[in-house]
Amino acid sequence: MIILGIETSCDETAAAVVKDGQTVLSNVIASSQEMHAKTGGIIPEQAAREQIKSIIPVIEQAISKAKLWDVTQHVPQHTTHNTPSIDAIAVTVGPGLIGSLLIGVETARTLSWAWNKPLIPVNHLIGHLYANWIDNTPSLPAVALVVSGGHTDIVLMKNHKEIEWLGGTRDDAAGECFDKCARLLDLGFPGGPAIAKAAKSHKSRVTSHQIRLPRPLLDEKSFDFSFSGLKTAVLREVDRWKKPVLAYEIQEAITDVLVQKTLKAVKHHKVDTLLVAGGVAANSRLKEKFELEIGHWKLDINLHVPPPKLCTDNAIMIASAAFFNNKPIPWEEVSTNPSLTITQ
Ligand code: KG4
Ligand code: ZN
Repeated sequence: MIILGIETSCDETAAAVVKDGQTVLSNVIASSQEMHAKTGGIIPEQAAREQIKSIIPVIEQAISKAKLWDVTQHVPQHTTHNTPSIDAIAVTVGPGLIGSLLIGVETARTLSWAWNKPLIPVNHLIGHLYANWIDNTPSLPAVALVVSGGHTDIVLMKNHKEIEWLGGTRDDAAGECFDKCARLLDLGFPGGPAIAKAAKSHKSRVTSHQIRLPRPLLDEKSFDFSFSGLKTAVLREVDRWKKPVLAYEIQEAITDVLVQKTLKAVKHHKVDTLLVAGGVAANSRLKEKFELEIGHWKLDINLHVPPPKLCTDNAIMIASAAFFNNKPIPWEEVSTNPSLTITQ
């Protein structure tokens, strides 16, 4: 089954074609990130306007790269293309920025009608999980950590249909904490990669900890997180330390909590598969810490972390999620939901 995925929940306009949920035939992403880097954060209005400019060329390219324009069909004179040889269209319906989501959803609804193809709505957070299914087949049940710019959730993925929420952030998301701390340190946007880069330059020069930021809720029983206090703690320290020192400790504090809490959930639910997903999963220190802890405690856990390009927003994961949860609905009934949660 060949699915065209469309993803426009934030500042990326993405389209991809995926076969049977696991084989990528094409992947195209246009990003307005550089524009947002100048303002130090995403301006939703501007992100939506960029989505409008990119959406049609991005979809056209994704289908061209996968060689799926049906050349045997008669092409009417006023159009350049005919119906592509795809089986379905998948689109992110939420969560995300309403203006950005609308561009993808309205385009997908129109194409579903014009091409007469089934339309599969996809939850962006569930989409992130499926980045782990590309060229790979994790066994289920699994505990999964979804860490993005707007969300931090630990879930128990029992099978492709049943996902149970175990815990999540009570305030800021992990990615948001990276972004806000990077702004305090004047390191640029997006903050995650900027902090990771600055932290690397510190690690190579200094070995001992010079500063200790809090590890919020680390010893609490729940699988919940709280990252807003960390940002406040950084604000207090910002004038006292060099940027690489602070960046290193920020990354250590965030990844310590993510790793410890997630492994606690893995042990509690006695699963042997651990999935990590979302933009923050691109952080190499996070992956390294999971590997170190699993090795140190000799845990019998299969850890899955997608390659960095599949961690951040893309349409491959949306097409894959749609394959494994193939629930098309009439295009007239597909609508955006900016505040969708992972279990909805
Ligand atoms: O999943 P994503 O691309 O978009 C959302 O759905 O939010 O995640 C973006 C978030 C941003 O907060 C960004 O700073 C963070 O992921 N991020 C990282 C890294 N790359 C992206 N955080 C830490 N280390 C990274 N290497
Ligand atoms: Zn995302």
